[in-house]
Amino acid sequence: MNHLKITAIVTLAFFFLTLSCAFATEPTTGKILILYYSRTGKTKLACETLQKPLGATMLEIKDLKDRSGRWGFFTGALASLFGMHTEIEPEHPDLAPYSCIILASPIWTGKLSPAIRTLIAKNRFDGKKVVLFTTTNAFEKEEAKEKAKALITAQGGKALGYYQVTSMKKVNDKKIERTDDEIITDTLKFVPEIQKIFSSQN
Ligand SMILES: Cc1cc2nc3c(=O)[nH]c(=O)nc-3n(C[C@H](O)[C@H](O)[C@H](O)COP(=O)(O)O)c2cc1C
Repeated sequence: MNHLKITAIVTLAFFFLTLSCAFATEPTTGKILILYYSRTGKTKLACETLQKPLGATMLEIKDLKDRSGRWGFFTGALASLFGMHTEIEPEHPDLAPYSCIILASPIWTGKLSPAIRTLIAKNRFDGKKVVLFTTTNAFEKEEAKEKAKALITAQGGKALGYYQVTSMKKVNDKKIERTDDEIITDTLKFVPEIQKIFSSQN
């Protein structure tokens, strides 16, 4: 009888030990929020691509200034060039439930869009892990990426990553739009790295 009891206790102890080890090695990713601005849908498409594999919540940041058409392009480019802010909705999204945030934006005149720069300036990201994600016609220089990361740091966030996907390509010396499938394929390549960043102890 005693022998049976000891065997049962040892078996149970082994079972719980194995279980706790399995959980200890499992990366724990905090809740992820994707905040994005998109004028023509490329950044939105990339964010939709990231949402499912990351199990993230997605929230659109709207620029309340009309950025459509040529005039919208022109005023947007000027606002961006001069580092101006804009009116956005929502201005203060509830960040409290999220420890990991992706800020996604198109690049305008070499910078994050006015909507996302405004969002960063008007909110605190204290202690949060932040990844920047941009879509562009051409890849940005390292210096521009560092400047964008510094905006996050100034608001208390930990800027841990910066990923870019291009929305144009050159074919026979002509610039043409890349297909949705190409953008999706490029975006998916970043998922493991982003997961790693968000599950790290940093
Ligand atoms: C006003 C404006 C300025 C832009 N400036 C740049 C730029 O400096 N460099 C670049 O590579 N692309 C630039 N672009 C292109 C966008 O970054 C690119 O098309 C992006 O993928 C669009 O994303 P969206 O569809 O989410 O709005 C600019 C676009 C706009 C509207």
